[in-house]
Amino acid sequence: MFHDLKLADLPEANCGVLRKSSNTRPTIWVIEKDGIRAVVKDFSRNRFLFRHIAGRFLIWREAKAYGRLAGIKGVPAFYGVIEGLALAVAEIPGRSLENLEKEVLLPFHFFDAMENLVNAIHQRGVAHCDLKRAPNTLLGADGMPYIVDWAASISKSEFCLPPLPMVFRRFILDDELAIIKLALRHCPDWVSPPKRARYHYRSRGERMIRVIRDRLRELLQKAV
Ligand SMILES: Nc1ncnc2c1ncn2[C@@H]1O[C@H](COP(=O)(O)OP(=O)(O)OP(=O)(O)O)[C@@H](O)[C@H]1O
Ligand SMILES: [Mg+2]
Repeated sequence: MFHDLKLADLPEANCGVLRKSSNTRPTIWVIEKDGIRAVVKDFSRNRFLFRHIAGRFLIWREAKAYGRLAGIKGVPAFYGVIEGLALAVAEIPGRSLENLEKEVLLPFHFFDAMENLVNAIHQRGVAHCDLKRAPNTLLGADGMPYIVDWAASISKSEFCLPPLPMVFRRFILDDELAIIKLALRHCPDWVSPPKRARYHYRSRGERMIRVIRDRLRELLQKAV
């Protein structure tokens, strides 16, 4: 279906450009082939060095993550990499969560589904790491959550040597906190008191960093 697709075929298969490329961002196309629609993230129009160093690396990382997450409902089906510079996944009809709260508030069951989805992802040994960005979560036309943009994700198998498992667990926690942050905006009733406490908890290390930062700020303010 999409396995023989070439970069040169994209303009012909194009149904609309979701986003044009910029210095550091790929073009996002919606394409249709044999009646099936896909979203293509394409670095082939970025500048030469960025395209071949960052672009290829990010596509390779994201493709690896899609491989690990295959079959999870809520992660778009992966259709393949195109010439190392682009990647095609199933189009999710719906919209992203960016600024959604200004129009509509997401219901309780959305957050149950989001929590189950993120747990399933973590069980495959993957942390998304960029869930706090609302555009990376989509509200499907079926009312369910879908997660895109796996370029920054990390996998447990890459974080197995001490102290890296601790770092991996911290990213898992970040994914979980991102759901709570979203729920506080849309559906505060979903956030139980233990979840709320977890969201506001600052470890000793984090508190120390904050104290140093605040002292430094005071000193700098006195100095100027
Ligand atoms: N499978 C999909 N179905 C529908 N829309 C999608 C899909 N994948 C991506 N999009 C849309 O395209 C946008 C950009 O996709 P993505 O986040 O993967 O690209 P990006 O280059 O990493 O963007 P950013 O730098 O803004 O995070 C998403 O916010 C979403 O609105
Ligand atoms: Mg994104």
